[in-house]
Amino acid sequence: MEEGLQEAQEFIKTYSEQKEVSAKVKRAPLLACCGIVCGFCLLISPFITPAFRKHCLPYVPATRRQIDLVLNLRKNTTGLLVDVGSGDGRLVIQSAKRGWKSHGIELNRWLVYYSRFLAWKEGVSHLTTFFRQDLWKTDLSPYDTVVIFGTSEMMLDFEKKLEKELKSNAEVIAGRFGLSKWVPYKQFLDPKRNMGLYNVFAYKKQFKHRS
Ligand SMILES: C[S@@+](CC[C@H](N)C(=O)[O-])C[C@H]1O[C@@H](n2cnc3c(N)ncnc32)[C@H](O)[C@@H]1O
Repeated sequence: MEEGLQEAQEFIKTYSEQKEVSAKVKRAPLLACCGIVCGFCLLISPFITPAFRKHCLPYVPATRRQIDLVLNLRKNTTGLLVDVGSGDGRLVIQSAKRGWKSHGIELNRWLVYYSRFLAWKEGVSHLTTFFRQDLWKTDLSPYDTVVIFGTSEMMLDFEKKLEKELKSNAEVIAGRFGLSKWVPYKQFLDPKRNMGLYNVFAYKKQFKHRS
């Protein structure tokens, strides 16, 4: 009688242990899926969140032609260059390849890490620095050239920031959309129009503004 009871108890114990193991096995794929989804969200959120900011500035990498147009306008200037909203760092890297010390300001941490990696791969990490920073909270006073591939909606506010912070002989090069009130001292207007994709405007701080 006692033996039978012991056997029954052992059976119940083994059965409940097996049940626990099979529940864990069943939960594993669900947990793995949750992990993958969370990882994916973490990865893509920096690409989506700029859309919810006051000034939406999405990640649209510059083409090689746009970069060349910007850097050619700068040809005769030296000093420290900054690309505000530097994306994957391609403009900063090309600028460094011309021998110019160049900084990139970028909100998206993955793009900052990737930019640093590309700069190292291209052998220009000694000339480049990438900051994970908000461009609106970055002091632009140390820079001789500020490059911006912005949106038309943000330009007026950006102009106010430039007026407050830039040193007197600094220059601004804007790709696609120009500044609203400043008058460019040099510009390239795409003859084929292309929705202004290849328009580039160069400004000096001391130049006269439109009234
Ligand atoms: C048009 S893309 C930049 C293209 C880049 N200059 C190039 O040469 O390829 C704009 C970039 O600005 C970044 N961005 C958006 N809002 C920002 C902010 N407040 N501060 C810094 N970077 C920002 C985006 O993550 C995106 O990579």
